[in-house]
Amino acid sequence: MSAATMPLENTTMGTPARQNQAWSVEAIRSHFDFVHAGRTVTNNAASTQPPRELLALHHTLAQQYVNVHRVQSSASMHTTKRFEAACDDIACFVGASSRNNIIVVHNPTAAHNAVMYSLMTEFRDGDNIVTTELEHNSNFVPWFALCNHILPKFGRHLTLRLTRFDPDSGELDLAHLASLIDDRTKLVCCTAAANFLGPKPPIAAVRTLAAASRYSQPNGERRSYLLVDGAQWVPGNAVDFASLDADYLSFSFHKMLVPFGVGVLVAKEHLLESSLPFMYGGDMVGEGQVFADRVGFNALPLKYAEGTPHIIGTIVAAQALRLIPDLALQGRQAHSFGSPRDIDRADVVAAMGRIASWNGRLAAQALERLAAIPCLTIYGPREAQRRSLLVAFNVQGRDAVNLARALNEASVEARAGCHCAALAHRSLGINASCRLSFYFYNTPAEVDRAVDALAAIVAARSVALASPRERARAQTRPRSAATPLHLSPAF
Ligand SMILES: Cc1ncc(COP(=O)(O)O)c(C=O)c1O
Repeated sequence: MSAATMPLENTTMGTPARQNQAWSVEAIRSHFDFVHAGRTVTNNAASTQPPRELLALHHTLAQQYVNVHRVQSSASMHTTKRFEAACDDIACFVGASSRNNIIVVHNPTAAHNAVMYSLMTEFRDGDNIVTTELEHNSNFVPWFALCNHILPKFGRHLTLRLTRFDPDSGELDLAHLASLIDDRTKLVCCTAAANFLGPKPPIAAVRTLAAASRYSQPNGERRSYLLVDGAQWVPGNAVDFASLDADYLSFSFHKMLVPFGVGVLVAKEHLLESSLPFMYGGDMVGEGQVFADRVGFNALPLKYAEGTPHIIGTIVAAQALRLIPDLALQGRQAHSFGSPRDIDRADVVAAMGRIASWNGRLAAQALERLAAIPCLTIYGPREAQRRSLLVAFNVQGRDAVNLARALNEASVEARAGCHCAALAHRSLGINASCRLSFYFYNTPAEVDRAVDALAAIVAARSVALASPRERARAQTRPRSAATPLHLSPAF
């Protein structure tokens, strides 16, 4: 049996019937056009590839073009129903209780800004916000702007506190986080999977710290709110918003097979009820509720719908959440894509467990093979199961962007730069890193192809290095040294 067609029984969740299905990555890949284009798509942390079914659905919906919530035409009524059912599917997929928890936005950046604007008026002079140095800029810059640009203009002065990470392992420093949270911390922000170093911070522990702060929220709750950035986490894991018990969770569909433009803010219903909208006009006003001296907001979730939503994108996104279990649980009888049945949560949990398992295998293989390349520093946790499906690295004496360009010439798609994780790069004293990232349609052969291409690029340059002094410099270990990898036996 090839590595690409094998059982995933050790780490698979769900019923025995679901566990016993073989994992055929070739069957999964048969749904994607990129496979035939000669591309080694290993930059999936930026965006994933869309399968043919979703592109076709996008095309079909565009031909049936009609707006929602403009109920006079039967076409509009039909599309409205599909749009609302899509929000139900999204809620079910993430384990939220209803579409009242789901605010469709463009992307996680918009979701973080949405939280910022809707809580803006609640902050008091002297409050603080705690975030981490692991964050994507989108979970730092809005809070920086709120504390430094916006609220000072209204005479309110907040501090923004940054939680450190361990420079060697990349893990969040929980003791430091605990020391930063106090009874003036209104909000704690934390990624569930970091997009450069790759650790998955223990959100339950972060939540416990936030819950114990005794901050006095305007609705009487005595705790800090918790915002979780799920952009790199939701696409590869079974998520249960109810048990996560975060107040806000953001993610994006363009990292889980869907064409660009749709993301989600999942939020606790009572907070969406009590906070102010962040966009005004359009569907967010109640029917017949606009007067010269008074405006009434619509009920949830429309209270947060500022105008015509991304109708086609939302419907396609919800179908992706049905197609993903179909792909990951191939061989079962009932298909969810296009079906009028509700999404089966057990299928979602089983499918995402299998995807997490496959991604973990690919990441472990990449870690092991990259570690064998001379003068290469891998950033973040050394154990594959402690990290998300990406590996960032630098090669001593080589420019990260040039490495990515050289990989591109070998048809391997990588990303170099700071990946919008500017704080973490700064903290390690580097400007850039090169990153390979995987998704469940990637194969072990593609991991090998990417690493072989990198090894060849590094070897070619080592031979070309002119002087013995340059060679000696290239052998010197960089500042954040790579300690030996300890790969988990589970992989
Ligand atoms: C962890 C994380 N958060 C947020 C974002 C922002 O996503 P978007 O550009 O879709 O807003 C990204 C994008 O890569 C990310 O990796």
